[in-house]
Amino acid sequence: MESKSIDWSNLSFGYRKTGINVRCKYENGKWGALTFCEDDTITMNIAATCLHYGQEVFEGLKAFKGKDGRIRIFRMRDNAERMMLSCEGIKMAQMPVELFCEAVVKLVEANRDFVPPYGYGGSLYIRPLIIGTTAKVGVSPASEYEFILFGMPVGLYFKGSKETTPFMLTRKYDRAAPLGTGTFKVGGNYAAGMVAGEEAHDLGYSAVFYLDSCEKKYIDECGAANFFGIKNNTYITPSSTSILNSITNRSLQTIAEKILGMKVEKRKVPVEELSTFEEAGACGTAAIISPIERIDDIDNGISYEFSKDGNAGPVCKKLLQHLQAIQNGDDEDRFGWITYVD
Ligand code: PLP
Ligand code: COI
Repeated sequence: MESKSIDWSNLSFGYRKTGINVRCKYENGKWGALTFCEDDTITMNIAATCLHYGQEVFEGLKAFKGKDGRIRIFRMRDNAERMMLSCEGIKMAQMPVELFCEAVVKLVEANRDFVPPYGYGGSLYIRPLIIGTTAKVGVSPASEYEFILFGMPVGLYFKGSKETTPFMLTRKYDRAAPLGTGTFKVGGNYAAGMVAGEEAHDLGYSAVFYLDSCEKKYIDECGAANFFGIKNNTYITPSSTSILNSITNRSLQTIAEKILGMKVEKRKVPVEELSTFEEAGACGTAAIISPIERIDDIDNGISYEFSKDGNAGPVCKKLLQHLQAIQNGDDEDRFGWITYVD
């Protein structure tokens, strides 16, 4: 795939083969050297633990090109640390954070032509994954693993999410149990959300918000992003033992508090509180900030509206502006979130 043939103004969030991907194997109790590969397929044993028992963890992070031509990778170390927590969570071999970071930098260097130019609103989405490769049919952790890293240029994740987009909420499905794997970024959580996600798409929604699966009273998150609500100059986001600790959400909390002078509350958010928010959004690496038009509680026909004219509210707009300015270098790296690739 040649980067020259890419239409930077029409990027979707889809897989696209780029130049080089990076691999690393874990065997005999240690990680080997990074290897670089053009082929985007893998060969493995038909009894590998990732295929049968879901021994797979992944991450998502982004690199941006600035006006100055420099490439900026956003909060790479935080993704590395979270990936290792996910590995621990499903008994997979952890990789040194430094090795993960070296792989990400080398991937970006090798694919620099695939980082969208400044001004198009796109980025290079970087997808690391680790899979258990040992052939086993008894249920127990693999002793061999493979780390794979690839990148692809992307635009918006939720269709039409430049302004606002509708979401639904239902009690019919659970994504993760209170003491289950919801805090880990493991493939199984996404499999668990496929039925609800497709139902949401079929009904014309961008995604589904899950409630806590124990009491069904509190907002958890949607299948690919955290939730936040805004009221009284306060940024409010759920605290839950079954959601991913979003790096974007953490960044927005910092921006809200340190730049916008807002209060930040991380606590349980009862469903009924939705009616009190002035604005609301879904946030994540892929989702960025997707301001929410409305959330329809489809079980009892209640609709919580956050935008009457389809436009994003002023706080969502400011949060997005500041986040993107730091990511693409229009603002200084005041919180130490950027790794430069020149
Ligand atoms: N929640 C889920 C379930 C996700 O898959 C993601 C995406 O990574 C997020 C939240 C957002 O997390 P982050 O901002 O670290 O990308
Ligand atoms: C991300 O935002 O990086 C994600 O992993 C979400 C989604 C694409 C599954």
